[in-house]
Amino acid sequence: MEQSKDRIIIFDTTLRDGEQSPGATLNVEEKLEVAHALARLGVDVIEAGFPYASPGDFDAVQKVAAAVGTENGPTICGLARATKNDIKTAAEALKPAANGRIHTFIATSDIHLEYKLRKSRAEVLAIAPEMVAYAKSFVNDVEFSPEDAGRSDPEFLYQVLEAAIAAGATTVNIPDTVGYTTPSEFGALIKGIKDNVPNIDQAIISVHGHNDLGLAVANFLEAVKNGARQLECTINGIGERAGNAALEELVMALHVRRQYFNPFFGRPAESTEPLTQVDTKQIYKTSRLVSNLTGMAVQPNKAIVGANAFAHESGIHQDGVLKNKLTYEIMDATSIGLTDNQIVLGKLSGRNAFRTRLKELGFELSENELNKAFIRFKDVADKKKEITDWDIEAIVNDEIRQPPELFRLELVQVSCGDNSCPTATVTIRTPEGEELTDAAIGTGPVDAIYKAINRVAEVPNELIEFSVQSVTGGIDAMGEVTIRLRYDNQVYSGYSANTDIVVASARAYVKALNRLYSSLQEADNKEVVVTN
Ligand code: KIV
Ligand code: ZN
Repeated sequence: MEQSKDRIIIFDTTLRDGEQSPGATLNVEEKLEVAHALARLGVDVIEAGFPYASPGDFDAVQKVAAAVGTENGPTICGLARATKNDIKTAAEALKPAANGRIHTFIATSDIHLEYKLRKSRAEVLAIAPEMVAYAKSFVNDVEFSPEDAGRSDPEFLYQVLEAAIAAGATTVNIPDTVGYTTPSEFGALIKGIKDNVPNIDQAIISVHGHNDLGLAVANFLEAVKNGARQLECTINGIGERAGNAALEELVMALHVRRQYFNPFFGRPAESTEPLTQVDTKQIYKTSRLVSNLTGMAVQPNKAIVGANAFAHESGIHQDGVLKNKLTYEIMDATSIGLTDNQIVLGKLSGRNAFRTRLKELGFELSENELNKAFIRFKDVADKKKEITDWDIEAIVNDEIRQPPELFRLELVQVSCGDNSCPTATVTIRTPEGEELTDAAIGTGPVDAIYKAINRVAEVPNELIEFSVQSVTGGIDAMGEVTIRLRYDNQVYSGYSANTDIVVASARAYVKALNRLYSSLQEADNKEVVVTN
């Protein structure tokens, strides 16, 4: 990858730091799907995982490297602690990538040195360049991060960075690991690094930050003004604790306000040349994909990608927008890939119109997938007059992005209302092909359904999240349900969309159960292999 200081390098860590959010676990196929979407989005670097952490992580990084790390594709990066085993394993996983990067890190704050690493500053100052040089023996492109840089003594930080660059680091990343700094402090930290690390011109300055105080994006933008040229971020801002800096917010801030940022890149303010290589029209779709696969719903008022981000509710605002959009809109919804034309298809639309619209929305389905999606489309069109792009996308996500169908919901029926006891009956086809019917009562219809399903499936789990959101406005709108279940400290998600939210709730639950059950089966198979 060209290491340009004239624009921003977008380093996406959705598959590494993002996947570390509680419950956002993805399987290898899902990681590959996200990696392809990130490549279409135009990110420069994909941090695909932490290969030494587990065989699953190794496998995912290797597969992403092979499938997405093509000559003209993004650089594929693997994380490694500053140890030989970590680095060697990362190098092995990255081998299939045309452009591979090893990202090695060691903490530099006194608090981490004393309590976590139990090492002195002198030891860390020796380990960092030694491990950078070791990484350099495998790949040319080496990134070094002094973890918890935001709380490190700047004088010590300068020494470690200088040593890492001298040993061959081509990118030095400055993490605000605990989301502690404020924008002006973070900007000053970057400026201090530029002014005090003698060989800093030989490396790109990158930033990485968490959102504990809701300041990650603001911190990054201040860092950009002071010379940072790589931003480490995640789709929808998912990540450890309060998450990472959100890619869509950074990219759109640099896009919408480029006149403000241009001079910091030595460009005339009015230059229209983009500051990142991201295709902003892919943002919305990528956001939805990540939210569906991780089961982490996007809050409606989330900047850029939230359901309300482009909605005007107040009468005064609506009136202004009708007179001239610019009165209350600073960006066009189409710039993130939402279409103006929300009413697209209906009951009379045929297969060809459906296929064409799917193509326009960027979905590439096989003939078999198209058939499945079309049957669902017809079913929804019978119940809902107007099928919007959002509905189509919900249908595809529900119908096509499915975990293996081990348990299959054949029937769900509920009876509820005031003065009655919510009761559900379900029929489930088990993985062994048996059809079982059972009934249960609950505190409400959804609780009753889940109890009935549990009686049949007998897969132990704890329901930790249930959320319903409407796909569009209108009384006939589809509802999308997201479920998260926990078993043995792992979280499994399920998603479904339907005009009947009771049905969507049942289907989402069965999907989450299927994910859980297939991972239990995988674990069993692995045990068999080991004992043999
Ligand atoms: O937050 C952090 O410090 C990290 C590092 C590994 C870069 O994720
Ligand atoms: Zn992090």
